[in-house]
Amino acid sequence: MNYGPNAAGKYAQKLRINLLEAHGVDIILCPPFLALKPVFDAVVDSPMKVGAQNMHEAESGAFTGEISGSMLKDLGIDYVILGHSERRHVFGESDERINLKIKRSLQVGLKPIFCVGETLDERNSGETNKVIQRQLSKGLEGIDAEQLKSIIIAYEPVWAIGTGLTATPDQAVEVHQEIRKMVHDLYSPVSADDMSILYGGSVKPENAEGLLRNEDIDGVLVGGASLKLDQFTGIVHAALKVA
Ligand code: PGA
Repeated sequence: MNYGPNAAGKYAQKLRINLLEAHGVDIILCPPFLALKPVFDAVVDSPMKVGAQNMHEAESGAFTGEISGSMLKDLGIDYVILGHSERRHVFGESDERINLKIKRSLQVGLKPIFCVGETLDERNSGETNKVIQRQLSKGLEGIDAEQLKSIIIAYEPVWAIGTGLTATPDQAVEVHQEIRKMVHDLYSPVSADDMSILYGGSVKPENAEGLLRNEDIDGVLVGGASLKLDQFTGIVHAALKVA
């Protein structure tokens, strides 16, 4: 919940200019709902894509204040973040509800960026893999291998989001490999190989390259650092170096 339509639109215009030469990386901007249109207009006909941060699972109906996947699609949006830890922990979204949202997003032609991750307590009690296994298997219930191709997974340890604590590349790689193994077991080796798995949690220009150098880390989901033009640009440059 940072940047309204005016600020976000201006930001995206400047970012577009900053990144005119940025070929070879995929960039998806996911501003708040009200800023989607100005950001979409600012990056239209550029390689940058736009995503929302959430959506409701119903097609339409009496859900005052909510936004549906078809409305996002109507605007020209391609992606939607689902299951972000703040949606889970602050707004009480369950694995089951996230699964409904993922299914609906696919049905209307959006590509979900599906977030999973453990809390510090869960990590400290050795439950990281168990928690992620549960989030993944419930979140992907009823989704077939063809639909899976439209999904990006983001591993976001809750203890690293907005805290300044980043998982070390080794910690992130360990979980990314586990996630790939889970996708392998739930689907197939091909699905596991093809899956894009992003890391999120206090990603900055200084640590982005170290994370992205690992072949199991396919990209990053950036929160706080994306609000500063120079920092986000720095992260894209780190990705370009690795790409
Ligand atoms: P952060 O946020 O980069 O500020 O830790 C990540 C996120 O919100 O997903």
